[in-house]
Amino acid sequence: MPQARVSQNKYYQRIQEQLAILLKPASENWQAKREACHTIAGIFAETDVYNLYTEKETEQAGGIWLNHGYAVSTWSAAMCLLELKRTMVFLAGLVEAIQEQLKQTKEKPIHILDAGCGPFALLSTLSCFYFKPEEVQFHRLDIFEDNITASQKLADALGIADFFSSDHCTDATNFQWPFPYPLHLVVSETMLNGLRKEPQVAISLNLSKQLHPTGMLIPEEVSLYLAIHQQTTVNSALTDAEFLTEIRNMEIACLMQLNKQTSLSKENQITLPTFSLPAHYQPDKHAVAVHTRIRVFGKHILDYNDCSLTLPLFLSTPTKPRIPKGAKLDFHYSISHSPGVQYSLHTA
Ligand SMILES: C[S@@+](CC[C@H](N)C(=O)[O-])C[C@H]1O[C@@H](n2cnc3c(N)ncnc32)[C@H](O)[C@@H]1O
Repeated sequence: MPQARVSQNKYYQRIQEQLAILLKPASENWQAKREACHTIAGIFAETDVYNLYTEKETEQAGGIWLNHGYAVSTWSAAMCLLELKRTMVFLAGLVEAIQEQLKQTKEKPIHILDAGCGPFALLSTLSCFYFKPEEVQFHRLDIFEDNITASQKLADALGIADFFSSDHCTDATNFQWPFPYPLHLVVSETMLNGLRKEPQVAISLNLSKQLHPTGMLIPEEVSLYLAIHQQTTVNSALTDAEFLTEIRNMEIACLMQLNKQTSLSKENQITLPTFSLPAHYQPDKHAVAVHTRIRVFGKHILDYNDCSLTLPLFLSTPTKPRIPKGAKLDFHYSISHSPGVQYSLHTA
């Protein structure tokens, strides 16, 4: 329940009401939560900062390729708000991580970098409703100046500008924390399924090394699994628990774990293993896929198919078989202009 400050600001109060619906525990009223997300987008539009419903920009226009991946356009970043489960789980996880960090840390405020904040600085803006500025100070960072300007205007309109200490229009993959006080928490959502195309890995590798020793990286862990699908679709009549068991049974190996520990690698690389596909694998019957699981913090997890970031990434399917029977796959993660998992094939 958001309750950190009492404000006379009319936008603040309305968002507070919507957050109570959005993060209401144990509520499965998805329609109400969906409406709450849209109402928040509507309130943001009323503040005249950025109206994602009327902006003409398309998903393709406005994004740019950087040295370590693609930065999505302002419109695409704004639209992330409406990806309900992503937004809910990231926000709930971030709020809980901040609470945990406040318990662990003697000095206050704690400092949080929102790396790739987008036009609403959504994750930090909404977290402000759960804390006091004496406890938490946010630092916004984005490659696009327009995103920084819009999120500053939004904070002014909502009456929460005193939660924000600094702004940085720069590339998060080589940003250096310039302050004498420690960086306690980094939050970044700059990823697609399978950690492809966008710079989440390079950003984590850079910023983890600048965290306070007890600092936190959010998401806490992104894991990739190699899976063999019997069919490309899963039986939709299953309960949630049966469905997840079926998904886990398909996973034959963990490919990669991106977390604070693995990001501290001196080589600035994450090493991936080599696998031989199981004997039962048949290219004309099975698909080979990469599954993504995002543990934002603690129990706040985005699992298979929960949102676009956790859709399966198919490497081979019966209609487009790319991996032969008996293949040995040598995986590596390419940190480059176009990042992602790559593999070379060794056939017996
Ligand atoms: C998917 S959006 C997420 C927006 C917001 N944090 C949220 O969760 O709703 C990713 C944002 O990261 C920014 N971004 C991507 N790559 C970046 C980089 N290398 N340096 C700084 N910002 C980056 C994009 O401009 C975009 O605003």
